[in-house]
Amino acid sequence: MKTRGKIIIANWKMNPAGRDGAVALARQIESELEECRWVEVVVAPPAPFILPVSQVLRRAKLGAQNAFWEEAGPYTGETSWSQLKDLGVDHVILGHSERRIHLAESDEMIARKVASVAGHEMKAVVCVGERNRPDADISAEVETQLRAAIAGLKRSLLKNVIVCYEPVWAISTMPGSSPDTPDNAFRAGVYIRKIVADMFGVASSDDIRVIYGGSVTADNVAGFFSDGNMEGALVGGASLRAEEFGKIARLADEKH
Ligand code: PGA
Repeated sequence: MKTRGKIIIANWKMNPAGRDGAVALARQIESELEECRWVEVVVAPPAPFILPVSQVLRRAKLGAQNAFWEEAGPYTGETSWSQLKDLGVDHVILGHSERRIHLAESDEMIARKVASVAGHEMKAVVCVGERNRPDADISAEVETQLRAAIAGLKRSLLKNVIVCYEPVWAISTMPGSSPDTPDNAFRAGVYIRKIVADMFGVASSDDIRVIYGGSVTADNVAGFFSDGNMEGALVGGASLRAEEFGKIARLADEKH
């Protein structure tokens, strides 16, 4: 596998409640990143705070939590990939389970979003993950979600795709959640690369980055890099605590 620096993505979800809090958090995260050299860090605030947060980010890149596939038009309430790009967004989280569950996003909608984001030289962070803790092997849900999300892409666009293996049962806000094990994440990574190889040819499985999400903290992240062989992490709850997020980023920086 190619050796690339790690990527850590802060998914703030629908937090914090106000703009001042968002700007203050972004500033604190920036100061935590001062010593980082290699790690790529992305901060994905809620849509209304993308612009003010962009004005304080220096080291971290700007992310978004969703994007619509058309550039402009009669789509009330949506924000297009091009409008985000215009604000300086370069990473877009797509297919997050919270959107699949609460907003009924289908595999087909996610595929259209992935195609427009990846097709316009932005990075699509595609979340896949099973709803319930599997008894044995990685669930077939992961395969269905992944195949649907990237089926329409040309191989040359895989470099713009980051697959986040995020088991829904491991997300910190799910009742009874606990992080996945690095061993299981390792198996998920192998499985994801096998699917990509099957779809686009053996050499292609190295074109995508595979990262882990689900209750990532400063205490468990290193295991996902070493034993889990993950190339980064999508961080929800812990990304709202600048000091802890800074620790996660520094651990990722050491493992470049
Ligand atoms: P968590 O959220 O780190 O709070 O589990 C991750 C996510 O849902 O992206």
